Amino acid sequence: MTAASLSLKAALSQVGADVDRRLDKFLAIPDDPRADLYRAMRHAAIGGGKRLRPLLVFATARLFAVDRDCAGRVATAIECIHVYSLIHDDLPAMDDDDMRRGKPTVHKAFDEATAILAGDCLHALAFEILADPLTHPDPFVRSELVLDLARSAGPSGMAGGQAMDLEAEKSTFDLPTVTRLQAMKTGALIACSVEAGAILGKVPPEGRVGLRGYARDMGLAFQIADDILDVEGDEAAVGKKLGKDEGAGKETFLSLLGLDRARAQARMLVDQAIQHLQHFGPEADLLRDIARFTLERDR
Ligand code: IPE
Ligand code: IPE
Ligand code: MG
Ligand code: MG
Ligand code: MG
Repeated sequence: MTAASLSLKAALSQVGADVDRRLDKFLAIPDDPRADLYRAMRHAAIGGGKRLRPLLVFATARLFAVDRDCAGRVATAIECIHVYSLIHDDLPAMDDDDMRRGKPTVHKAFDEATAILAGDCLHALAFEILADPLTHPDPFVRSELVLDLARSAGPSGMAGGQAMDLEAEKSTFDLPTVTRLQAMKTGALIACSVEAGAILGKVPPEGRVGLRGYARDMGLAFQIADDILDVEGDEAAVGKKLGKDEGAGKETFLSLLGLDRARAQARMLVDQAIQHLQHFGPEADLLRDIARFTLERDR
């Protein structure tokens, strides 16, 4: 992406095509007994999803004139972690879902063992991409990317949030606990996408304060929107089964606040996210548009 004027829609489809092209190369089907494993990864990862996290990497990286190919590789690595998390999230042991991104889930299209392994492989592939010198010539940049993604995906991030999310079906959580859960389950990888753009741009940590505030608030708004879509979205547009949270008796922002207050909270978070970008000029307009999109989206 080059021009600041690129519309969000054009940017999303451009980034989607970029990620698809890279995954097509990384996941070339071998002529051996692993063929189905690769087919399963391709089924989950190529040609679907909003590609929000990759777009956040690009939109942040362009603030600091980062090389496009470096940003594309990092964006693909983070999307690999996201796709792995979705494959495992859909497994019978977790949400037991049949549809994802408008297609059968991996364990339905293949089988459970293949779905588990496809997730494992995408997880490993993400770190392989980040640690590869092709991703950045500076080993300090590469190790910071690896460290940040590991923290964001692990027990203090996405996977820890997923564990709390399963508990939320059995326990009553208060608002601060649900906020922490959502910040880990969904927010951590979103925050990592923004952070990665800044790491690639060699921005020192003290220069990342506004971006971190932006990512935290838009990540929370994004998960509230996911919960709202679960209640009042259109299954065909969203491409996954809805009404799951209430059916599972899960504590979410919606169960705690109700629809109107949850929506108001999400709007406030989007405004706050945009406020955090006040020190940036029009070069951050794409990030501002992404924040608004988190609520306006229908999928
Ligand atoms: C769905 O994420 C799971 C959550 C973390 C809320 P997305 O809504 O970004 O899913 P895709 O990538 O567009 O399929
Ligand atoms: C899953 O959250 C978040 C992940 C880390 C995969 P949900 O279970 O709410 O996501 P959907 O609604 O199935 O996409
Ligand atoms: Mg889940
Ligand atoms: Mg789910
Ligand atoms: Mg959901």
